[in-house]
Amino acid sequence: MKLIAFVTFYLVLIAGCNDASQPQEIAAEKAPTEQTGENTYLMYCAQCHGASGDGMGLLKLDRPARSFIDSGFSFGNTVHAISKTTSSGIPGTPMPPFSDVLTKKQIEDVATYVRSFVKTIKEVSASETEMIVEERPLVARGMIPPINDACALHPRGLIIGNPDGFSYEYRVDDVRLLAIRQGRFIERADWGARGGSPLTILGKISVLVEEGNPNSMFTTQDGIPLRAQLTSTNTLNDHGVIRYDLFDKDNNRVASVEEFCKPTTGARALIEQIIVLNVLTPIKMNTLQGTVLEGETNIPVGTSTRNIFHATKGIQ
Ligand code: HEC
Repeated sequence: MKLIAFVTFYLVLIAGCNDASQPQEIAAEKAPTEQTGENTYLMYCAQCHGASGDGMGLLKLDRPARSFIDSGFSFGNTVHAISKTTSSGIPGTPMPPFSDVLTKKQIEDVATYVRSFVKTIKEVSASETEMIVEERPLVARGMIPPINDACALHPRGLIIGNPDGFSYEYRVDDVRLLAIRQGRFIERADWGARGGSPLTILGKISVLVEEGNPNSMFTTQDGIPLRAQLTSTNTLNDHGVIRYDLFDKDNNRVASVEEFCKPTTGARALIEQIIVLNVLTPIKMNTLQGTVLEGETNIPVGTSTRNIFHATKGIQ
């Protein structure tokens, strides 16, 4: 890598003597094999975003870089949108601007390479701002607007849209399911404003979990709420899956959780939230208002599953 960096730098220098106007373009032409999106990525991005795009770079940041694998794009996931973010950076975060460091072509190539990490999520063009869920689940991250006058805005939110037309709205600063909707998915109105405005969520509310302001679902055995920190999102068959870790107040990880939701078969009057726990220190589950919990509230060390049934308001 050092050699490549040196060669590139050297070519830039030589080119700079001949034609000061476009030195980097010339460097790109003279060393085509060094200028792939992958090489640019490994040189300029991997220290923060991880060589595999998982967001686990070697550099310790005060806020984590995005995992591209689980589609961590607030500003759009097209090559065009990723190029824009790469070029301008994200002010107020460690994500630096590259407009002065890389050529337009290098930025486009690296954005194409970044896009290739996203395996399961369909590309959505920013001009067609409505994200439509087709045969695969979609995950969108962004600001969740207040669901109603009594609810708060959540700067860090996530919404999973499944092919069956249901979508699940989560806050992810402390992972909690807020609402379940049915119908259309979302409109990415925030793309134009670079994250400044909330998502427009298009589905009709079918379940409002504890009035849209739910308590923590998990506590210590003494009833002290645990903090839920998002680790990843994924897809499992037709369902978007969310994974998080639970921490006690001393920041000890006490459990890992994986959950997804689906309507119960039949009359579809209930939504089932399936929660698979891997528990290190025994914890307790708090039954949310308006739900039925299947299984014990005490959760012992080891792997176990709990199912929560949410009664829907019934959509006509
Ligand atoms: C110094 C660390 C650092 C480096 C180097 C870095 N990034 Fe980032 N990047 C971040 C952080 C941190 C975020 C998340 C910012 C936030 O919290 O919104 C981010 C976010 C992003 C996003 C997500 C934008 C969105 O839509 O939400 C993209 C795309 C991105 N980086 C691309 C790149 C590319 C391409 C490179 C290399 C050319 C790169 N980054 C280099 C730290 C870095």
